[in-house]
Amino acid sequence: MHVAESGSGSPLLWVHGFPLSSELFRRQFAIDGVRHIAPDLPGFGRTPAAPWSSVEAAAAMLREELTQRGVSRCVVGGVSMGGYIALALARTAPELVRALILIDTKETADTEEVRQRRMAQIERIEREQSVTFLVDEMLPKMLSPRSLREDEELTTFTRRMMSSTSPAGAISALTAMAGRPDSSDVLRSFPGAVLLLVGGDDPITPPGEAERMKNLSTHGELHVIPGAAHLANLERGDDCNQAIADFLQRLPE
Ligand code: MLT
Repeated sequence: MHVAESGSGSPLLWVHGFPLSSELFRRQFAIDGVRHIAPDLPGFGRTPAAPWSSVEAAAAMLREELTQRGVSRCVVGGVSMGGYIALALARTAPELVRALILIDTKETADTEEVRQRRMAQIERIEREQSVTFLVDEMLPKMLSPRSLREDEELTTFTRRMMSSTSPAGAISALTAMAGRPDSSDVLRSFPGAVLLLVGGDDPITPPGEAERMKNLSTHGELHVIPGAAHLANLERGDDCNQAIADFLQRLPE
């Protein structure tokens, strides 16, 4: 697995969303006093494809990567699909997860309608052997209309990152997301602190989802990031980093 590492200090595992890669966290690597560990899941970014079909399987692969790096406990941060996997880690390896940073994500399982849509996407990827249609469909939801209009560097960067997803990687992730369980119980019983960040204009996981998650978690803290769509941590890196650095500083040992 390709793993981007940066900084030194307390370990923080970053889990990317779909169809994205570890480059999603380029702004977060600026947070000091942290050993940032950001893997590319199989079939994404620079990690070659290898079949995986559940969020639990992804969590097990990440746990293995952490073990190889001598990390037995860390903060886990995830964006969207990365949040689903972070919650799977909290369910399957609770001793590993010191605290959670959940960005533009939700704890619920797919509805039947979303599951059907994912199955249709898998069929189309198989037919076309390409994820270009997904990139075209999803890019307008990843960034706000303003960034898409005015920030060419960010838009090109995001499109390129999305396009680095292989057809096999996308099929694995869609299968895993469609089959993921509801994680309300995990959130409710998680003993550590939970930081929730959400773009104020996120059309995929709107602020209402994050509010519900905050109400479920015992030690939840929510920041709605104005002017951001689905990739709040990328689009409004400074605002998110401030909330993340502040959260990390307050964490008990
Ligand atoms: C993501 O950004 O990871 C995806 O939009 C999540 C999803 O499709 O549920």
